[in-house]
Amino acid sequence: GDAWKLKDHPKLPKGKTVAVIVLDGWGEAKPNEYNAIAVADTPVMDSLKEGAPEKWRLIKAHGNAVGLPTEDDMGNSEVGHNALGAGRIFAQGAKLVDLALASGKIYEGEGFKYVKECFEKGTLHLIGLLSDGGVHSRLDQVQLLLKGAAEHGAKRIRVHALTDGRDVLDGSSVGFMETLEKDLAKLREQGVDARVASGGGRMYVTMDRYENDWDVVKRGWDAQVLGEAPHKFKDPVEAIKKLRQEPNTSDQYLAPFVIVDDNGKSVGPILDGDAVVTFNFRADRMVMLAKALEYADFDKFDRVRVPKIHYAGMLQYDGELKLPSKYLVSPPEIDRTSGEYLVRNGVRTFACSETVKFGHVTFFWNGNRSGYFDKKLEEYVEIPSDSGITFNVKPKMKALEIAEKTRDAILSGKFDQVRVNIPNGDMVGHTGDIKATIEACKAADLGVKMILEAIEQVGGIYVVTADHGNAEDMVKRNKKGEPALDKNGNIQILTSHTCEPVPIAIGGPGLAPGVRFRKDLPTGGLANVAATFMNLHGYETPSDYEPSLIEVVDN
Ligand code: 3PG
Ligand code: CO
Repeated sequence: GDAWKLKDHPKLPKGKTVAVIVLDGWGEAKPNEYNAIAVADTPVMDSLKEGAPEKWRLIKAHGNAVGLPTEDDMGNSEVGHNALGAGRIFAQGAKLVDLALASGKIYEGEGFKYVKECFEKGTLHLIGLLSDGGVHSRLDQVQLLLKGAAEHGAKRIRVHALTDGRDVLDGSSVGFMETLEKDLAKLREQGVDARVASGGGRMYVTMDRYENDWDVVKRGWDAQVLGEAPHKFKDPVEAIKKLRQEPNTSDQYLAPFVIVDDNGKSVGPILDGDAVVTFNFRADRMVMLAKALEYADFDKFDRVRVPKIHYAGMLQYDGELKLPSKYLVSPPEIDRTSGEYLVRNGVRTFACSETVKFGHVTFFWNGNRSGYFDKKLEEYVEIPSDSGITFNVKPKMKALEIAEKTRDAILSGKFDQVRVNIPNGDMVGHTGDIKATIEACKAADLGVKMILEAIEQVGGIYVVTADHGNAEDMVKRNKKGEPALDKNGNIQILTSHTCEPVPIAIGGPGLAPGVRFRKDLPTGGLANVAATFMNLHGYETPSDYEPSLIEVVDN
């Protein structure tokens, strides 16, 4: 209808092919040996920078600029792509859960009431990522939820903890588990039978995404639901400490374990009549488990036993699938995204990445919504990722394949917007392998090169940016910005994202003369990008969108 109609931009033409390239985990920081991007050979990204300040600048990608609770919150792909696609800043899951817990409203909602129906006779199971990373979950929220659940009548609680080391330092899982154990001990003193029941590393157990590897979810299912795992321990802190000593492991990849009683019996399988809450607020790595827990028809792996439970997510993870159907906190209502506007105005759209980032440029970009707006005008291409490997062994990932498909899409003339996510800086950065991350950045740069060449050929326009920092800083730093040493005097490798700004560059033969970055938006962030490329497509943006970063000067 008319509500979708965008006004023509007074100065910029329609019909140019616009490539929107998102480098995942590519922030800007001072060059030094821990800045993998600066060390890497990245001639294309370097040359874009020479266009500063008119055609290259930095934008904010963390904290309040992307709807996170505090300025200390590093950016991440979910909130980054939400902001890029939606053109506005929404209070994100982390913040919405904080508010619901602080006000107590979380306990008044339909989701909690549904879960509570099991408290009399069943066990409450909490499943999720145990860390203070603030990307998928936060430990302090889990602590409040445990306390609140007990106050609201939960008599038996089991926690199924996934260890992190990806949004936080490797090795920090021990401390998080100790903290949780203290809280559970307090609950036991108050007469609540509360314990850890199982665990495992997030990248090996449960938290796969975009259906890259269902075995990951199955391993979690076996431990959490069936109470079966290759490793059995009586004490979860002990479990983590022991399993961390296995060769080639880390918090992220810890083997699955279950906690057993004196008879060797698992203390917390999920049974008929139990309640389950997945406490991650972020969607991508919970959707697969949510399907396994909720769907009657399910063929991704043999669930063996499907308990009759009352299940709620911390949030609803997929607005289109309405999954899960019950949730404790309503997700941000990210509506009227740029993707939807452009498609409804006839802009033919192509989106591409490899599996591990595919949902970033589709699902997250479109406001946590799966599927197409108008299949006739859109094509989303997923390049299968390698599975079962850590990406430091193949740092090139599928950057070239993504770039090839995107080049072909540009040259086909069938699309007005092509958008891609090039994952290398992020996915390899998360392994903490600096050498491999340098390779990764080089591969990403080559991918950009191929896409820009195609844009050159068709007389198009490019927008190159990133969703958050990662590869530009691979070491934990102290307040002075120097590498922080641990108690043995060693540097600590940073596997996580950062709070650094990210670059944005515009250009290409189709860019109208006189287009340049405005100077009056020094604090611009990712949410300003949508209006920017909508302008480059020849449209004005809806009035509630964050302002465009560009202006057109007459010359
Ligand atoms: C992950 O899920 O891999 C990390 O927690 C965050 O990385 P992303 O935000 O770049 O996906
Ligand atoms: Co990341």
